[in-house]
Amino acid sequence: MHPFHYQNGQLYVDDCPLHEIVARYGTPCYVYSELHLRERYHAFAHALGAQTLTCYAVKANSNLHLLRLLAQWGAGFDIVSGGELARVLRAGGDPKKIVFSGVGKSREEIRAALDAGIFCLNVESAAELERIAEVATEMGGRAPVALRVNPDVDAGTHQYIATGLKESKFGIPIAAAEDLYRRAAEWPSIEFIGVAAHIGSQLIDLQPLGAAARRLRDLYERLRRHGIELAHIDLGGGVGIRYHDEVPPSPADYAAILDDALAGLEVHRVVELGRALVGNAGTLLTRVEYWKENEGKHFCVVDAAMNDLLRPSLYGAWHEILPLRQSAAPLQECDVVGPVCESGDFFAKNRSLPAVPVGENLAILGAGAYGFAMSSQYNTRPRAPEVLVQGAESRCIRRRETLADLLSPEEDCPLD
Ligand code: LLP
Repeated sequence: MHPFHYQNGQLYVDDCPLHEIVARYGTPCYVYSELHLRERYHAFAHALGAQTLTCYAVKANSNLHLLRLLAQWGAGFDIVSGGELARVLRAGGDPKKIVFSGVGKSREEIRAALDAGIFCLNVESAAELERIAEVATEMGGRAPVALRVNPDVDAGTHQYIATGLKESKFGIPIAAAEDLYRRAAEWPSIEFIGVAAHIGSQLIDLQPLGAAARRLRDLYERLRRHGIELAHIDLGGGVGIRYHDEVPPSPADYAAILDDALAGLEVHRVVELGRALVGNAGTLLTRVEYWKENEGKHFCVVDAAMNDLLRPSLYGAWHEILPLRQSAAPLQECDVVGPVCESGDFFAKNRSLPAVPVGENLAILGAGAYGFAMSSQYNTRPRAPEVLVQGAESRCIRRRETLADLLSPEEDCPLD
């Protein structure tokens, strides 16, 4: 389920040996397989069919070059900020395929979205709907809107990435949403075109998604009885991937859950998939700097850190770690840790890895989604480059940051 494999003892992504990438770009370094991303996008778009707008959730990985590919393949985009809007437009994405999610859209962001003529704003509160109505009135137009409802289903995922329960900050409670639709249906600057939900991320069991879709369907049907005809139902993202031993749903499983919940309904669908498209396309390459032992506990100190890939520190997420060169060295139980000054700076705990020599490289898999996108410059560490592999070829799609990149916003403010 991922494009990384050994050939003659060397780890490859597709037809490209990763050691060549290390030699060319150094470590730490993010590497993505174009083929994997393309296959995943097309598999979902095909399974979901022409009645579905398959959007890519830009927050998972917002590299312009990946967005450009997705735009060329016909994807829509789910954005959550004016910055993501600018990226998608710069990459050549079709504004008519953009949905804008998020609980805190500013006036400027709403204006920019309406100005670009995006497909739909997913609205998360009555106050936000009022603000959008005001901005649209000022601009002399109508805003295309879906209310994001909170269907109050338990997605069964990590609490930080579960969003569909009533105690979460997201969405409008489903009962209140019906009132709001009916109240605002007459507002001249609001055009209700859909209803949306997103219940959480890294879903392995899709039953909760089916339950959410059925609740949206009920709401859709109730609204229709009141004369409010919506054109689409947006089910959000959330399809999980295999990091360890999970058995994630296939594109066909996903389509079947939606077909089942929405059977017989003449309505367009929108989905907003991030991780399922890009998660297993990417790896973070890192060099072993030191082995150390503290009273019987072994540590493998590498040159990447939590600033590069935060998921293990933040969620206790499990990422597979493979040596770039297949190794006959004995297995050593160890923590794989970075150089950042925090105990939470780790990639793996109590993991059995071949005790490869210092200077050898490791690949941390499953790093394509929420990897670079959540990276920072903490500890004044320049962010890693990103490299795209196409077959046997690789090209840089984001250069390594320099110290000058980090210092210049401060140096722009005179020191003396
Ligand atoms: N739509 C909305 C409204 C979302 O909030 C999200 C993700 C998505 C779509 C895409 O979800 P996906 O298909 O990627 O599951 N940083 C966390 C994940 C946070 C997800 C936030 N929302 C992680 O590394 O696991």
